[in-house]
Amino acid sequence: MTKDHETLQKEYKKIADEIRKHDQLYYGEDAPIISDAEYDKIYKKLQDLEKTYPWLAHKESPVNTVSHARSTFLKVKHASPMLSLEKAHTEKDMMLFLQRIEKAMPEKDVSFVVQPKIDGLAVSLIYQKGMLVTGKTRGDGITGEDITPNILSVKGLPLRIPYDLPCEVRGEIYMSKEDFLQLNATCEKENVKPFVNPRNAASGSLRQLDASITKTRPLRFIGYSVYGVQFDTEDHSLQWLKSMQFSPPDYYVVHTYKGIIDTYEKISTRRETYPMDIDGVVYKVNQLKAHTLLGATAHHPRWAIAYKFPAHEGITQLTDIHIQVGKTGAITPIAHLAAVTIGGVTITRASLHNFFFIKEKNISILDHVVVKRAGDVIPYVDRIHMHHHNAQAYTPPTDCPACNAPLEYQEETERTLYCKNLECAAQKHQKLVHFCSKSGLNIHSLGPKQIAYLQRLGIISTIEDILTLPAQKHLHSKLSGQPGWGEKSVNTLLDNIRSATHTTMVKILSALSIPHIGPTTAQTLAKIC
Ligand code: IVH
Repeated sequence: MTKDHETLQKEYKKIADEIRKHDQLYYGEDAPIISDAEYDKIYKKLQDLEKTYPWLAHKESPVNTVSHARSTFLKVKHASPMLSLEKAHTEKDMMLFLQRIEKAMPEKDVSFVVQPKIDGLAVSLIYQKGMLVTGKTRGDGITGEDITPNILSVKGLPLRIPYDLPCEVRGEIYMSKEDFLQLNATCEKENVKPFVNPRNAASGSLRQLDASITKTRPLRFIGYSVYGVQFDTEDHSLQWLKSMQFSPPDYYVVHTYKGIIDTYEKISTRRETYPMDIDGVVYKVNQLKAHTLLGATAHHPRWAIAYKFPAHEGITQLTDIHIQVGKTGAITPIAHLAAVTIGGVTITRASLHNFFFIKEKNISILDHVVVKRAGDVIPYVDRIHMHHHNAQAYTPPTDCPACNAPLEYQEETERTLYCKNLECAAQKHQKLVHFCSKSGLNIHSLGPKQIAYLQRLGIISTIEDILTLPAQKHLHSKLSGQPGWGEKSVNTLLDNIRSATHTTMVKILSALSIPHIGPTTAQTLAKIC
């Protein structure tokens, strides 16, 4: 082999590895770090090399693998542009919006339809002869991607409607907060990287080339606009959507500026009680004739506006990075933060996902970072805000902080480090915590603090020890009288253990923290037991 061959091979391998890394980030984690254009440039470099030196290409080339499929969703044009909404951040912005409308239509009596702004992905559905024929993503607003096979199992999205003429329904595909938490719990139990928020989970689930994967994900649709059917008002179009078995968002109709502000207050107060993430309130002029009169800019209609909620994010200083050892030995870097209030909750800790994330986002201790939280989701560091002049690059640990065992990646492509020592005290503690938690057997009065206490006293060290506590002799004498434990609380604990053990095989299997055995696999296993 000549030197030239070797250099070319090295160059080829470097580009191929880079593409694989970005494919993993884009498809596997729904967290790309470069733009599509940058990706296409790198991809073209590889294609050119393969064309000029066909001997370089082999069957594992990213060009031949299914994961490379950015272009495999067919591009499709929208019948009319899918615009975005103008944004208001203050009451003054809303006043200006109202004044503009009054000025354009001084003699007209206008009202507004008011709805929550759903934080999902905009899609367009085309129906012909009452059948759903195409589903498209928004894309750049002019051209979207054909995702028809992926939307067939989305809840709230009828495949047939009792309306024969061609029409288009636009709306949002989203994942409910509850489904998101459940999906992430499953990901975690099965050692798959969890999603950062419901929107990412919905997007990652929808944009799967293998539609059978999308089918297993709990996606829902909410429709808010109809084209191709004649109505006088938005209000009527929403009633039509309902009658066609779509699920339009709840809405109010208001006539005054006071109505506008009151409904914003009502919806923002209820924000956490909505089943999905919402990020603002949408106001649309109710009278559809006025839509034609008011028109649109290249970006947004002049008859609608989104009054955004203050972001559920905050900027604060990263004071330290601690390491958390999970129940399966997974190592997560945790950001310690100068206290910051986000959406009414004070945050001092946030997930930093993994060590690749810290490196890719160039985050160091002392930097100011942007922290996000969405509903019940654990807060996470999203990005860097400002570097600190004294900040030094962070070096990930090589050994487990709890037991000193060397940390390892499970596979080469993995982004999570593991402590593989099954005797690791931190891991053992987390296994017990999981066993007793709501996702496990739900043993009341045995939370992390009580478990740590019983471990310290040498009363429990394994799951078996917990289960056999009620049969343990001298437990009362060992425990009663210890701070926080009296005769009564020991009896309650024992009763709680006894009643929690009357449970199903599925619960037991998934409470054991066995790698790859989450609730779904546990269900399959329980069936064959
Ligand atoms: S009405 C301009 N109503 O927000 C089109 N949009 O930035 C009129 N959205 O792309 C859209 N909830 O995907 C409307 N209740 C709602 C909405 C909503 C979310 C999205 C929509 C649009 C984006 C605007």
